[in-house]
Amino acid sequence: MSWPYPRIVAHRGGGALAPENTLGAIRHGASLGFKGVEFDVMLAGDGTPVLIHDESLERTTDGRGEVPQMTYPEISRFRTEKGESIPKFEQAGRLCRELGVWANVEIKPAKGHERATGEAVAPLARELWRGAALPPVLSSFSTGALEAARGAAPELPRGYLVDKVPEDWRDTMHRLGCVALHCNYKSLTEKLAAEIHGAGFAILLWTVNEPEIARQMFALGADCLVTDALDRIGPGFR
Ligand code: G3P
Ligand code: MG
Repeated sequence: MSWPYPRIVAHRGGGALAPENTLGAIRHGASLGFKGVEFDVMLAGDGTPVLIHDESLERTTDGRGEVPQMTYPEISRFRTEKGESIPKFEQAGRLCRELGVWANVEIKPAKGHERATGEAVAPLARELWRGAALPPVLSSFSTGALEAARGAAPELPRGYLVDKVPEDWRDTMHRLGCVALHCNYKSLTEKLAAEIHGAGFAILLWTVNEPEIARQMFALGADCLVTDALDRIGPGFR
């Protein structure tokens, strides 16, 4: 496929320049001119999709506890650095629409909640981006979550997210109806890039934080790079 989305995407909202997976991070990335953002979405215990990477609150907030065992009102009392709170996916989606920022929505299910997370996130994404010029891409390391997302909102594009590229990537991508392979940049070779493109899929790489590596990855054939280094790999980098 040709890649109709931005080619440089801010990781977890604002990369290393803002508290990850917050509304402030998305605003910060947008203020620097970023047109694409990646963030992680997990279900709280009451079924509310929220932006967070880890299942526990400790690393990124002043709270303690496990996300799938707490309600959103409980989770939202805690603060990240710079006084942010954990936003609902709904708030992040609305903000992206308001700012004109495209989203790579990473479905990040807590263990055992793979299908439920895909089933909740996909229809909400459809609703949030209704009428948008560029729909979000729903990506996940969880094939169960992607399968459920496909069932719930088949028209939304999906990305198959992996660290190392497995042998059966082609079959899995066809089975899940994915448009792009999202892999660790260290896994990409020229041969593999040609095979992925030859099979009709786009290539998104994470997480590229050095301009020299970014140049090499585009030369290999990457369509899109996710970065934490918003100050060194800007939105117009090529
Ligand atoms: O979507 C790319 C990247 O976000 C995957 O890894 O652990 O940062 O969510 P992680
Ligand atoms: Mg992520």
